[in-house]
Amino acid sequence: MKGVILAGGTGSRLLPLTTITNKHLLPVYDKPMIFYPIESLVRAGVTEIMVVTGGNHAGEFLRLLQSGKAFGCTSLQYAYQEQAGGIAEALGLAQEFIDRDKCVVVLADNILGESIKPYVDNFCRQDRGARILLKEVAKPEAYGVPIIENNRLIIIQEKPQFPRSPYAVIGLYMYDAEVWDIIRTLKPSGRGELEITDVNNAYIDRGLMEYDIISGWWGDAGESIESYREAFNYVAEHGANRLVQPV
Ligand code: DAU
Repeated sequence: MKGVILAGGTGSRLLPLTTITNKHLLPVYDKPMIFYPIESLVRAGVTEIMVVTGGNHAGEFLRLLQSGKAFGCTSLQYAYQEQAGGIAEALGLAQEFIDRDKCVVVLADNILGESIKPYVDNFCRQDRGARILLKEVAKPEAYGVPIIENNRLIIIQEKPQFPRSPYAVIGLYMYDAEVWDIIRTLKPSGRGELEITDVNNAYIDRGLMEYDIISGWWGDAGESIESYREAFNYVAEHGANRLVQPV
């Protein structure tokens, strides 16, 4: 299993903080934001990682993370996304690195209070397909929202005006090698991006998507300045990536 951390995009929702730096280099309490997804993966035993980033500050990631050895990475590679063409486009840049392996993809602005190891282990036991993580939230309309019937995923709606469940699809996705064929079929959405929600819906349509509902704290530190503050405060008080019992 290999890991991909997506750290491109424009960071426009955190302006002016992101005027002269990449969002994922901003501090969340005592560490740069990107440290949290790296630690999540390494603590789950995923030590071969690619960071995909872009924009004017891509070089800073190399200066900050270097070989990744200090985090316990056995390999840390980098890819450059030329423009913010969407999460699925950014993931497509990791195809050669992942090859026929399975992968865990993490959005670099997502922070989890708990260890992801139990969920990664569930995916290791899964023969094929994909796996997503859901979290009950107060404001699902800010995220991808699943419709679930009889415990089966029916579809994910991206930022729906009227959410049909209380869950957010969090920014941690696990895929088999079928993901590369799916990405090739995608068309840009209304906002001009290749959407990760379209990738996930393709797996749902094929009957190959599983999910876990996470029990611990989750935050998207890049959703708004408020969510950034919440993430900062949570980590300052409780830390991140702690081992707890899954649901
Ligand atoms: O945080 C979870 C949510 O993340 C999900 O619930 C949504 O379904 C999913 O679409 C995504 O929504 P966001 O609106 O939060 O995505 P955002 O555009 O903020 O991108 C999230 C991260 O993905 C960002 O921190 C860096 C990376 N990214 C994004 C884009 C658009 C890239 O690496 N390249 C890109 O082109």
